[in-house]
Amino acid sequence: MVDRRRVALSGASGLVGCAVSKDLTASDYHVVALVRDSRKAETGSSVLWSPERGVFEPSRLEGMEAVVHLAGENIATGRWSENKKAKIRKSRVDGTKALCASLAGLTRKPKVLVCASAVGVYGHGKSSVDETAPLGNDFLAMVCRDWEGACSQALQAGIRVVNLRIGVVISTEGGALGKMLLPFKFGVGGRIGDGTQWMSWIHIDDVAGAIRHCIEDEAYRGPVNATAPLPVTNAEFTATLGKVLRRPTVLPLPEFMVRLMFGEMGDSILIGGQKVIPARLEAEGYPFEHRDLEGALRSFKL
Ligand SMILES: NC(=O)c1ccc[n+]([C@@H]2O[C@H](COP(=O)([O-])OP(=O)(O)OC[C@H]3O[C@@H](n4cnc5c(N)ncnc54)[C@H](OP(=O)(O)O)[C@@H]3O)[C@@H](O)[C@H]2O)c1
Repeated sequence: MVDRRRVALSGASGLVGCAVSKDLTASDYHVVALVRDSRKAETGSSVLWSPERGVFEPSRLEGMEAVVHLAGENIATGRWSENKKAKIRKSRVDGTKALCASLAGLTRKPKVLVCASAVGVYGHGKSSVDETAPLGNDFLAMVCRDWEGACSQALQAGIRVVNLRIGVVISTEGGALGKMLLPFKFGVGGRIGDGTQWMSWIHIDDVAGAIRHCIEDEAYRGPVNATAPLPVTNAEFTATLGKVLRRPTVLPLPEFMVRLMFGEMGDSILIGGQKVIPARLEAEGYPFEHRDLEGALRSFKL
């Protein structure tokens, strides 16, 4: 039997987690899901963990090649009540601290921890930002800062840590594009607000590919932007999606409606935006499968 290198993966049931699991398995890794539901932890390929307590049987993570940590309360569903915001923050910051404490206690520690973060760490703006840019200070930016900071125990234990600042993931399985497809197909899609906000998107296959690159190439450590090289404005995204679907996109969603419908969440992720450049991935020669939006959208055969 081939001795496959093992990778532990939290958030394996999510949009990104499913794609990462598929990609790593196809590249001859053995994926061990870190699951929160004890009923799912009964098989050999799952290990129970909780964002409050960390990994229940940490010895099962001895000798891992890598740990990929994606778990966190979904940001884009439901209004941001105080309770929801606390869940968004706690699930990421406390969850990452607990996981890192478990990893730091291992005898044979993983070589690398790839921990999700988000481009929201930069706050909002219209000029290009790479990994050296100053960070924002709104709610999401603060969550991302602390989420990245929560990896410190793994770092101190000598584990290479990559904080992957993920952009808007495009996939037909869910996420932003998943939600937009239906109205656009019915011809009632349109730009949001004045459409000048930037959207730093990335194709789902490139998120998975970038994570594998970060596992395999020791040059990656610290913040790494996971976005396509050619970000677009919301107006460009709207026009391109309309073109690919061959549907009109003449019904804009005014800002006040976004605020009425989605509250603070709408302000933060639909009206706000950032123009993020994947400088580290480009510098290390990551071979993007999808550099431009039209090609990326056409790959889904919408
Ligand atoms: N999708 C995007 O466009 C995007 C953009 C930027 C950053 N990100 C970040 O990348 C990560 C993965 O994104 P995704 O789109 O795959 O997210 P997702 O579909 O919402 O999946 C996240 C996974 O986290 C676990 N989870 C859910 N609620 C949780 C909670 N309260 N506490 C702990 N774990 C919880 C679940 O996995 P289990 O039930 O298996 O534990 C869930 O499947 C997230 O942290 C997200 O913030 C995503």
